[in-house]
Amino acid sequence: MKSILITGGAGFIGSHTSLLLLEKGYKVFIIDSFINSSDKSLERISAILKKQGINIEDRLYFIKGDLRKPSDIEKAFEMSFKFKNPIRAVIHFAGLKSVYDSVKDPLNYWENNINGTINLLKVMEKYSCKNIVFSSSATVYRTQANKLLKEDDICEPVNPYGNNKLTIENILKDIYKSEPSQWRIASLRYFNPVGAHESGLIGENPMGTPNNLYPRITQVAIGKINEIKIYGSDWQTSDGTGVRDYIHVLDLAEGHLLTLDYILKENPQILTLNLGTGKGTSVLEFINTFETVNKVKVPFSFVERRQGDNAFVVADNSLAKSILNWIPNRNIKDMCRDGWNWQLKNPNGY
Ligand code: NAD
Ligand code: UFG
Repeated sequence: MKSILITGGAGFIGSHTSLLLLEKGYKVFIIDSFINSSDKSLERISAILKKQGINIEDRLYFIKGDLRKPSDIEKAFEMSFKFKNPIRAVIHFAGLKSVYDSVKDPLNYWENNINGTINLLKVMEKYSCKNIVFSSSATVYRTQANKLLKEDDICEPVNPYGNNKLTIENILKDIYKSEPSQWRIASLRYFNPVGAHESGLIGENPMGTPNNLYPRITQVAIGKINEIKIYGSDWQTSDGTGVRDYIHVLDLAEGHLLTLDYILKENPQILTLNLGTGKGTSVLEFINTFETVNKVKVPFSFVERRQGDNAFVVADNSLAKSILNWIPNRNIKDMCRDGWNWQLKNPNGY
């Protein structure tokens, strides 16, 4: 039974990935500070597995801790050694993720995201664990009109959050180069993760007012926000609204599992992979699908373009598909249905 450390495992993507790893028989150590999550997600993971008749006794351990404190990270490694099942690999989700906040308070973002990652990598070296899957983002790319983004396209982030992600990718490249026969590294560039587990027990739990489209749609539908303000109607897209590559969080979780299996089985290497569906959906198409699938109204109006926005951000996902044999097969309707189920069952989050 392989032991895996999941940083940020209580968060949106981390909780769905932790659940999947537990379903597949891994031993999971989670470290999370709860700065943007709640311990309820961990209780819910256990509840889902219990319902499925899956025993997680001695397989799920939690450390409330902050990556900025190396001793918190060491606790997880020490625990795994005590159990004579040392952590084999890390999936590194922990980080602050609001573009807006990163512009307002860049130092906080650099401090949390970069220092946290450096501490993690140092502790990993100390315990001879040199296998890591990192949560990067499509936000690192310089976007180009109506062109699918490929891993070797130019990267040119336009905000501190994106700069953090690209910097971490570069740190990972540097440590790989320093010991290429030792490290197995994957940076996964996610496109727009949405949806929720079909049970409606875990999902995205934004603190405060969300900035992203999807949680705003569910909050408008449930009556917490009056309407969606669509940022621009004059983009060079089919209907004038922004196009994105929305991906179901469960497809994303499967991408992590396959990446982990791949890097552990293959020779040491460094990989960068897009995790998106390859299909673009406009804001209007998304709202229409949400209304049709869930039979609810989502009022909207058009406002000015949002600063720093792009017309079209869609993945060329052929590399991840061919290397991992990964097939993201949940469509926009599934994303709308599952996220709404989560919102209805948890109108105030966890
Ligand atoms: P999330 O905020 O739900 O999860 C991140 C988790 O990390 C939270 O539980 C938070 O409490 C924890 N955390 C933050 N800083 C920490 C620290 N210093 N020590 C310990 N725990 C800490 O976010 P998510 O949507 O699940 O995203 C996971 C990762 O994927 C993030 O790195 C994010 O930047 C990246 N990503 C997310 C998206 C997206 O749209 N959701 C897109 C691309 C990339
Ligand atoms: N949008 C609106 N109104 C809103 C919110 C968003 O019209 O209230 C539009 C945006 O203009 C864009 C689309 O909906 O066209 C998606 O916007 P989001 O804010 O949901 O997502 P972004 O693509 O801007 O960014 C997200 C995350 C980033 C991540 C990126 C990866 O916020 O952290 O996806 O591509 F890096």
